Amino acid sequence: MSEFLTKQTEWQQQAESSDDLKLQVGRPQSDESWQLLAKDVVEKLKLHATDNLLDVGCGSGLLLSKLATNCAYVSGIDYAQAMVDKAQALLPNAQFYCGEAKKLPFASRSFDKLLSYSIFHYFPDREYALSVVKEMIRVVKPGGIILIGDVLDANYENEIKSKSNLAYEQKIPNIHRYSQWQFYDFVQLERELSDLVSQFEVLTQPNELALSGYRKDIRLWL
Ligand SMILES: C[S@@+](CC[C@H](N)C(=O)[O-])C[C@H]1O[C@@H](n2cnc3c(N)ncnc32)[C@H](O)[C@@H]1O
Repeated sequence: MSEFLTKQTEWQQQAESSDDLKLQVGRPQSDESWQLLAKDVVEKLKLHATDNLLDVGCGSGLLLSKLATNCAYVSGIDYAQAMVDKAQALLPNAQFYCGEAKKLPFASRSFDKLLSYSIFHYFPDREYALSVVKEMIRVVKPGGIILIGDVLDANYENEIKSKSNLAYEQKIPNIHRYSQWQFYDFVQLERELSDLVSQFEVLTQPNELALSGYRKDIRLWL
C-alpha cells in the first residue's frame, strides 16, 4: 500500500477507535484549550454572520462545531469516510464530503472563508501541499480569507525530529511518527504564493496552546 493510502487508512481507524471526538482528531486537550483554540480561529478568520465557511481536513468536526454559530453556512471535507460520518452526526445541518484536499469538489469562488487546521504535516511532500493551497485559493472568493492552521515551522524540524525514537515509531501508526511529518519553510512558501494572494501572514498561536512553540498559522488574504 502507498504511504498516502496507509495514512488515509490510519485516519479512518483513528476515527473508529474511540467515541471521544478529541481523541479522534488526535488532540485530547482540555475543554478550555479547545475553547481557546476556537476563539483564536474565529478571530484569525475574522468570521462574520453571513460567511460561508469550508473546513478542509475537518476530521470529526469538533473544531468546526465551535465555529458554526459565527457564520451562516459551514461545510467540511475529509478523505476519511469515518471522520465525515462523525462530523455529519455532530453537525446535521452542515454539508460534509469525503474527498481529498488536492481535488476539492466545489465550483471556483464558492466560499468566503476557508479553514484547514492541523493537516499539512501529514501531506506526502511540499509539492502536494502547494497544489492543495492553489486548490484552496481557487474555491475562495476574491476578498476572502484562508487560514492554514497548525503548520510545522521548518526552523524546528531538526530539533523535533532528533527526538524521534525510530525503533518505537515502528510500533505506532505512520500519522503519529514525528520523523514522517512535513515541516514548512515559510519564507519559501510566501515566495511561491506571492503572485496568487494579496497578503501572506505567519501568525503565532496563543502560548497556552500545548505545541505553539513550533507550530504557526498561515493567513492568506485573497
Ligand atoms: C489532526 S486531524 C485534524 C482535524 C481537524 N482539522 C481539527 O483540527 O480538529 C487531520 C485530519 O486531516 C485529514 N486529512 C489528512 N490528509 C488529508 C488529505 N490529503 N485530504 C483530506 N483530508 C486529509 C485526516 O483524515 C484527519 O481527519
